[in-house]
Amino acid sequence: MNFKKDFETHLKNFYDNYPEVKPMLGQSMDMSFWHIQTYMLTKLGINDWTKDTSILDLGTQMGIIPHYLKEIGFTDVTATNSKEEAGNKIEELEQAWKSLNLEVQPLHIKPEEEFTLDKKYDIILGTHINIHWNMRRMLVIHNSYIYQNYYVMDKNNNFHTYFVPYNVSELKFFIENIKKYLTPTGKALINFHPFPYWEDRFKEELDLLKEHCEVGYCANDGQLFQHSYIIIEGNK
Ligand SMILES: C[S@@+](CC[C@H](N)C(=O)[O-])C[C@H]1O[C@@H](n2cnc3c(N)ncnc32)[C@H](O)[C@@H]1O
Repeated sequence: MNFKKDFETHLKNFYDNYPEVKPMLGQSMDMSFWHIQTYMLTKLGINDWTKDTSILDLGTQMGIIPHYLKEIGFTDVTATNSKEEAGNKIEELEQAWKSLNLEVQPLHIKPEEEFTLDKKYDIILGTHINIHWNMRRMLVIHNSYIYQNYYVMDKNNNFHTYFVPYNVSELKFFIENIKKYLTPTGKALINFHPFPYWEDRFKEELDLLKEHCEVGYCANDGQLFQHSYIIIEGNK
């Protein structure tokens, strides 16, 4: 299989096949949006996976990846999404999952709180996910009142989003929790978005990631904050 080419064709046909989902997709129908995902999946060896590989897409949003995998014959594909993070977009997402015939399990991961999955997987994907935002420590002060809002829109309608990334112990906890749900030869690809850990002030976090995982980034592109990922391996 030539995954990259096949996925591109799938996306090109998507508009025609699912016109009702089209208005909800926005920038995620642009092929350049999927450049990093196709790069990472290729690196993870998707071209060689057997069709019975058990795959979990963690934080699927519209469900594009699990839908594609099922379409091309993978038989054990599961997806999760956070209702809390989706907020009032959840109805739109549920509509899209219905059209794509996908069952998506709700899962919201909190810092240093154990989460459970239904079973162990050969592959766990978490592409373009903001699971590592610890909003509990995020505060905003406005007119002498404290709020927890994490974005503002400026006068030009541009969003400014604020977040506190997971620290060393939160990352460690998350990695160990993921490992519990990987088969001994399993792998999890987690593309924290954005990936803040190249900055000097997060050196301890980067050192921890490098010690416990493979840290990579999509070649040919300088936007490290967008295009970095970690690969967690199962306990052999
Ligand atoms: C931008 S979407 C990524 C969608 C898709 N994986 C992709 O590659 O385009 C971010 C995803 O992260 C998930 N997410 C964010 N915070 C989360 C949390 N605390 N726990 C679980 N999932 C979370 C959301 O549910 C959402 O599906």
